[in-house]
Amino acid sequence: MTEGRCKPSVFPPRTDTGREDTLDNFVIETENLTKDYSSWLRKAKRPALNNLTISIPKGSVFGFLGPNGAGKTTTIKILMGLIRPTGGMATVLGKPYDDVEVKNRIGFLPDSPAFTPQLSAMEFLDVCARLLKIPSSKRKQRVEEVLEIVRMAPHAKSKVGTFSRGMLQRVGIAQAILNSPELLILDEPLLGLDPYGRQEFKEIILEQRDKFGASVFFSSHILSDVEEICDSISILNKGRLLCAGKLSDLLSRDTDNGVLVKIRQCDDAVKALMTDADNVQKKENDEWELTFKTLSPELDRKINELSAKHGEAVKRLNAREDLESFFFGKIEEDNLENS
Ligand SMILES: Nc1ncnc2c1ncn2[C@@H]1O[C@H](COP(=O)(O)OP(=O)(O)O)[C@@H](O)[C@H]1O
Ligand SMILES: [Mg+2]
Repeated sequence: MTEGRCKPSVFPPRTDTGREDTLDNFVIETENLTKDYSSWLRKAKRPALNNLTISIPKGSVFGFLGPNGAGKTTTIKILMGLIRPTGGMATVLGKPYDDVEVKNRIGFLPDSPAFTPQLSAMEFLDVCARLLKIPSSKRKQRVEEVLEIVRMAPHAKSKVGTFSRGMLQRVGIAQAILNSPELLILDEPLLGLDPYGRQEFKEIILEQRDKFGASVFFSSHILSDVEEICDSISILNKGRLLCAGKLSDLLSRDTDNGVLVKIRQCDDAVKALMTDADNVQKKENDEWELTFKTLSPELDRKINELSAKHGEAVKRLNAREDLESFFFGKIEEDNLENS
């Protein structure tokens, strides 16, 4: 780890009194987790995963980020006990990664889930529920519930083979939450979803945490969505962890980044303010975002007056770096240092 990079884990440090103290606080813990796919036949340039040490706090929605080939799926496969690491250790819900019993308490969506095309959504989920040993008295009701949650109830009797990628992804999420898991591990769950599907997915994830107390660990490339729903993230590049921590800490909400004004109502005075802004962006839902890198006393007064006049419709915030520029900054810095 070089100077200037974030620390690998900024979550509460482990206590010296042993692992027992940490079991209640973290749903996933890894220490120097390493996976080298090299064999005597094929020598890899570098390990796919290199000394990953990370702790995922209970109750968090955690975004696991990194470019293609960074090692995200490798990590997730280890956590699910699908492949063995070549070094280090990992615990999930306080148990070793290969503990079979603990899998009943986890919901998992792999990066390329396999579906049975000739079954209906309902039949497919019924098979999954049987595999999860959900008692027959509760199975039908639970399958109907999860179909409702992922907005697939109208397609319950349609064959999975006729579904679009987005619909398949919803069925995948439905099977992941069938057993009311304490922890959801999802590999690229947003892939293939249109903006409506992504919005619904975000609502489902937050509902799983807020209503059912689940923790969520998911990998994604869609940084704006990660920024919207995750409280914590980590960034992986070429198998190595570049940083991890609370999003609000990493994107430091301090005044050095200037002022951000979110606008939902435009009168002439607000339009005039737009001409003074360093950056004007039109967002979804007819919202505008104005960024001011520095504020003259006059601009400062103008913004405060408009904010007082329009209330929530003209909202003043301290600007912060967005996740996209933070992510690309970290990756570029790492690629330059290790090219
Ligand atoms: N079964 C495998 N055998 C050899 N190399 C692999 C295998 N699976 C993944 N890799 C390599 O490990 C690295 C990390 O891959 P992966 O974990 O799938 O990354 P990500 O999910 O972040 O895109 C890549 O360089 C990939 O080519
Ligand atoms: Mg992957």
